[in-house]
Amino acid sequence: MENTLAYAQAQDKNDELKDFRQRFYFPRLNNKFVIYFTGNSLGLQPKTTQDYVLNELEDWASFGVEGHFHARNPWFSYHEILTEKTAKIVGALPQEVVMMNQLTVNLHLLLVSFYRPTKQRYKIICEAKAFPSDLYALQSQVTFHGFNYKDALIEIEPREGEKSLRTEDILKAIEENKNELAVVLFGGINYYSGHVLDMKTITEATHKAGAYCGFDLAHAAGNIKLHLHDWQVDFACWCSYKYLNAGPGSVAGAFVHEKHLRNFDLPLFTGWWGHDKETRFKMEPEFIPMPTAERWQLSNAPVLSMAAYKASLDIFDEAGMDRLTAKSKRLTSYLEFIINQVNNLTNTPDKYFEVITPGDRSCQLSMVPHGRGKELFTQLTAHGVIADWREPDVIRMAPVPLYNSFEDVFQFGEILLHLCAK
Ligand SMILES: Cc1ncc(COP(=O)(O)O)c(C=O)c1O
Repeated sequence: MENTLAYAQAQDKNDELKDFRQRFYFPRLNNKFVIYFTGNSLGLQPKTTQDYVLNELEDWASFGVEGHFHARNPWFSYHEILTEKTAKIVGALPQEVVMMNQLTVNLHLLLVSFYRPTKQRYKIICEAKAFPSDLYALQSQVTFHGFNYKDALIEIEPREGEKSLRTEDILKAIEENKNELAVVLFGGINYYSGHVLDMKTITEATHKAGAYCGFDLAHAAGNIKLHLHDWQVDFACWCSYKYLNAGPGSVAGAFVHEKHLRNFDLPLFTGWWGHDKETRFKMEPEFIPMPTAERWQLSNAPVLSMAAYKASLDIFDEAGMDRLTAKSKRLTSYLEFIINQVNNLTNTPDKYFEVITPGDRSCQLSMVPHGRGKELFTQLTAHGVIADWREPDVIRMAPVPLYNSFEDVFQFGEILLHLCAK
């Protein structure tokens, strides 16, 4: 790798995904396009999104209520047209996946089914400093069932002086608590450090301990290759507004493994959209469950946000996760190389950038700006680099293979160098 514009531009020229960049709107600052490294927080808007949403608005205007059956994509079954392509992204069978609600809502609905504490088995293992919404969901589920979350929640911390968990420590905690364990729930990619967890191994160990294993895939869906079905994960949920570019607060995803779909004894919070679709409109009082993940649906499809999701999903399907993850590895390695170059060029032991993301990478790198702190982040923003700051000390950056370029990464390095020189 080389820290030169010519090298970066040559990589872009040879990139078979390079044309996808033109399909997204980039924000501007002072009349210049920004360097957008925040697809891990809110993905950019595809240029087709407005048309997809407009189509549904037009059909609503043309058909009124008849749009449920006569719209170009009938709303009655709108969620179904998202299933197959979504399943490909998370490595699932189509019947294991449903798009509905939002992430935290889905987490609660899945915990209703998979967290069924008894006096003997009531504990949940999760990461210390889990994303707060997950933590609140877990605390409230435990309390709802009449247990004390301070006792029931086992939050695993990185070792002293380390920034991310070791798989062996997670496995040890599972083994030590195996007689009391009900559920293990982790972020598949830690939102703070960008650590990609070994989801297969954690799932296997959880099952050996006789518990259920679930993942929050907010930072993983559309970012890394997932094999939820093959890994035997019991349940998972994710949002669509980060890597999946479906827009702020858009519809979320849920996964339930095939092996549970025929278990009609699983407790469930129900609504009419989880009822067998063939007889749903008979409006009978008895709930007849769908034999798919659609059983967890409560309400009819939020078509406008699903249309926005579909715009991005169609792009994902064209690009394919294989090509996206191959580019992601190269692009993120280049970012790490550039950060190291800046460290070498500025060469001050008390001021340097430490990449804390361990092991196998997704596209996110988390970097601690030692000796510089949040001020550097603010200056980056003022110079048109949109990254994000996470307390207490991390700048998160995600060059996204769908729309970021090697030149973005090179230009970021130039700005970083310029700010260090100041
Ligand atoms: C890891 C993680 N979990 C949960 C959430 C909460 O998502 P929502 O507000 O869509 O429920 C977020 C939001 O950014 C997140 O990053």
